[in-house]
Amino acid sequence: MNAHADRAEAELTVDPAFAVGEVDPRLFGSFVEHLGRCVYTGLHEPEHPTAGADGLRRDVLELVRELGVTLVRYPGGNFVSGYRWEDGVGQVAERPRRLDPAWRSIETNEFGLNEFMRFTEVAGVEPMMALNLGTRGPQEARELLEYCNHPGGTAWSELRRSHGVPEPHGIRLWCLGNELDGPWQLGHKTAEEYGRVAAEAARIMRMTDPNVRLVACGSSNSSMPTFAAWEGTVLQHAYEHVDYVSLHAYYEEVDGDVDSFLASAEDMAHSIDSVVATCDHVRAKLRSKKRLQLSFDEWNVWYRRRRDPATEPAWEIAPRLLEDSYTVTDAVVVGSLLVTLLRHCDRVAVACLAQLVNVIAPIMTEPGGAAWRQTTFYPFADAARHGRGRVLRTEPRSTRHETADYGEVDLLHSAAVQEDDDTITLFAVNRSTNRPLDLVADLRAAGASRVLEHRVLTDTDRHARNTARQPDRVRPTRLTGASIDRGVLTAALPPLSWNVLRITAAT
Ligand code: AHR
Repeated sequence: MNAHADRAEAELTVDPAFAVGEVDPRLFGSFVEHLGRCVYTGLHEPEHPTAGADGLRRDVLELVRELGVTLVRYPGGNFVSGYRWEDGVGQVAERPRRLDPAWRSIETNEFGLNEFMRFTEVAGVEPMMALNLGTRGPQEARELLEYCNHPGGTAWSELRRSHGVPEPHGIRLWCLGNELDGPWQLGHKTAEEYGRVAAEAARIMRMTDPNVRLVACGSSNSSMPTFAAWEGTVLQHAYEHVDYVSLHAYYEEVDGDVDSFLASAEDMAHSIDSVVATCDHVRAKLRSKKRLQLSFDEWNVWYRRRRDPATEPAWEIAPRLLEDSYTVTDAVVVGSLLVTLLRHCDRVAVACLAQLVNVIAPIMTEPGGAAWRQTTFYPFADAARHGRGRVLRTEPRSTRHETADYGEVDLLHSAAVQEDDDTITLFAVNRSTNRPLDLVADLRAAGASRVLEHRVLTDTDRHARNTARQPDRVRPTRLTGASIDRGVLTAALPPLSWNVLRITAAT
């Protein structure tokens, strides 16, 4: 598109007749791993002034509810591939301390399965349980399932009852291991080895409880040398036994290349399209009637290159690990990744922002002290609240610019969601760091009559962040100026911004 040098332009058409699909509420999931302070002094801190009798911090629970998380994956991550779930049940005083080789920490096991399930109840979220298929196998997976979901009358189900949980947990969604393609993973496997184990574990799980839904491990990220080949081989074995394939992706700004960073969603979209293509290729080969869905069960901004494991604390309880402090730029990227998930809602059913508290998280805490929202909290909360309903198919056209990693990309990145008959929400990212973007959206087919609100997250300092001292340094603000004339919306999106434009057809 032609644009003035100092302003960018974009146009799009929204027509409720053309939809991508319905959003599965589980798209707004998150992730709790026994890593650093995510569990201990994050979710769980019995000595904290706000903690209940269950040891859960009420200040954190309030923020979890405000964030709008619908599902939480647990207990890892790399941690799960060496975990013995039996260590975390029964009398707390009798639970063993163990070394966690994945994060070189000490695990006290004070928090385990039943404490996590208590958290899911209080927070009102669905559990997504990950199994150890690294150092353990299908038998231990089956026993855990029996402990969790069988009503009673067997050794494992009676053990649960003896732990004060008379009713089965009824956990439906299970991950068949974690990142087993990665050489860093405990029990790392080849695709052939993992495909066989995943298929066997899945068969045994279904024989134990036919209601389970199962996620096979896809690649750890799209740069893995075995990306797509791994999925192809694994699915050749496991296609008929699983319901989802997982994807993981983390992004960061490298060497000040902010334009590539702001276009990270290009990689996420490419990963989704590639895994969809691989699933459908295997489906065709197997002549299967089943169509697999995707579970993007780890995604976020994570400054991995800044990490130096050699200087991190070793063999401590709940050390400060991966406590990234997020900027406005990071929040805009998180918003853009949410836009991508929404635009692929026909195939991505589950997604988890990794992680929930303290560890690369939207919520931060101090032990014995405050809890606060990182910048990334806001786009997630907006999408979880207003990104429910039908994603409409839009084909935006906007001013483009060159990026080192992704070539030419659009400056506008957006998704339109029809929440109900009267309300459409447009999520929109302006990827330009210096140009406001003039958006024109034709909403005549939707009968748009009024802008309900235009909320924006932006700042003159793109590095601004929230801290314990300044927890509200960055907050969304409301903009005036967006308007609708005869069904056509015009709005100005500030440089480097996350925007929520809510539009009604009601008079
Ligand atoms: O979320 C942090 C780590 O990232 C997880 O433990 C692992 O699965 C991934 O590599």
